[in-house]
Parts: sequence; C-alpha cells; structure tokens
Amino acid sequence: MLRRLHPEQPESFAFTDANLAWAEGQISKYPEGRQASAVIPLLWRAQEQEGWLSQRAIETVGEMLGLAYIRVLEVATFYFMFQLAPVGSVAHVQICGTTTCMICGAEDLMAVCKDKIAPNAHMVSADGKFSWEEVECLGSCANAPMAQIGKDYYEDLTAEKLAGILDELAAGTVPVPGSQNGRYSSEPLGGAVVLTEHVEGRAQYNASVDLATRIGDTVKRIDGTEVPLRTPWRDRRDEKGDAAPDVHTPKLSGGATADETGVDKREAPVDNAAKVESPADDGTS
Ligand code: FES
Repeated sequence: MLRRLHPEQPESFAFTDANLAWAEGQISKYPEGRQASAVIPLLWRAQEQEGWLSQRAIETVGEMLGLAYIRVLEVATFYFMFQLAPVGSVAHVQICGTTTCMICGAEDLMAVCKDKIAPNAHMVSADGKFSWEEVECLGSCANAPMAQIGKDYYEDLTAEKLAGILDELAAGTVPVPGSQNGRYSSEPLGGAVVLTEHVEGRAQYNASVDLATRIGDTVKRIDGTEVPLRTPWRDRRDEKGDAAPDVHTPKLSGGATADETGVDKREAPVDNAAKVESPADDGTS
C-alpha cells in the first residue's frame, strides 16, 4: 500500500495552546541536540487533535524539532498508525483482521463497516462521520473479535453489536468500551475461575474501561485539556509526592563500600589455583 500525502491538504495547522504546552513538555524530556526523539509523540498528538496528519502538521512538527521535513515525512509514512488521509469527523474504526479475530467473525465486522460507512477502507462515509480500516492484531485476542474505535477497544463484538455502536456514535453518544458480551475483562465466558477473591466488591468497570469512561476521550479530538499537564522531569526537586525524585541509593551486600556513583570498587577475587600461566612463564620457550 502506497503511503503518501493526501492530494487535498488544509492550508494551515496549529497545535491548540494546551497541546503546544504538552508538546513542549515532551521535547523537554530529551537532552540538548536530541529533540528529534520527540517526533513520534508530537506527530501522534497532532493526529489526536486533527484526526489525521496533514502536510502542514508534518511540517510544523519538523519546525518544532529542527528537523528537515523529509525526516518527519519518513516517520509519518513508515508507521501505519499515522493516518495520512482525512478520517470520519466522529470516529475512525479499526477492525482487527488477524487470525483470532478473523476466526471469530472479523469479516462480519468489516461487512458492517462496508455497509454502514464506506465500501472501501480509508474512505469517509457520505455523512462525513466515519471511516474505517482493517488493522493487524491489536493485542486483545482473548476478546476477539474486536475493534478500536477512536482511542478505545470494543471487544467480544458481533455484527449486530458493532452496527449498534456505530448508530449510537452517529447519534452523539459514546457506548461504554470494553467487552460487549458482559465479560469484565478477559476471563472465561462462564466467569472467573482463578483470582476469584478479586471478583467480590470489584469496581464497576475494569481499569481500562474505567479510565476511558472517566476521561471521556474515546472518540474526542484531543485538545490537551483532558488531563492536567505533568512534566515531573523538568524540575524533580520541586515536585515531591508522586513525582518524588528517584534518588539512587546504592545498597551492596556484605557491607562493602561504594563510591558516590554507586560503583562497587572491589576487585574480583583472584583464584590463584585457576591461574593459567602464559607460555613465557613456563620456562619451555
Ligand atoms: S487477533 Fe485480533 S486482537 Fe489479536
């Protein structure tokens, strides 16, 4: 599949103020001269904000990182997670088509996408709200078949359930992500058979679904205000609590000393019995 810039491009791109602050925070993670390391996070945030990567977004990231445009384009075109064409305004649907999901009905899910969204992947639906594509394994094989819609996973899907989810999204509501057949996570259909002591009194949703519902960003275009900006690496001395400095205190066994860098200066014990004499030492040459 050819991955190239879309023929129709917007004239401009700009990060929102909060996303710009976030991006600058990411850049500050890296030592001077190594800012290029932030290229994937910045491209990803640009895509989270706009839904896809335009030429101006790619150029903007290059300008922020002091990178030639071609270097950023290389990254954007290499990774399939970057969308190089406009996606649906409500959601981009990624159907896993790899073995487990395929065996469990992924082709039925793609038939729904073809019917309700567009006949081909990466086409935007007539109402502009949706687009879809088939992707490789998304790591949720125990809950196959599944789809990633926006940021979250919808698992244990059937064609009917996916159609219903798309209808709800089109109507402006966001169905609760996670398993769609009543499973809490990936336990057997009949219920957990191990770690059963954790079943009683557990939270309503598993941690992943709980986070998705609390933040409410499943299909939201990210503007940077969803969660507080945290950059504890910028000045760790001033950020105690959960961003407390990770002070390395060397602890050696046997009461041995260590220098201030934590390096144990003991020399390896010499085993004289195992010493191998060099040819010059054995008197035969
Ligand atoms: S095969 Fe579909 S998530 Fe792994």
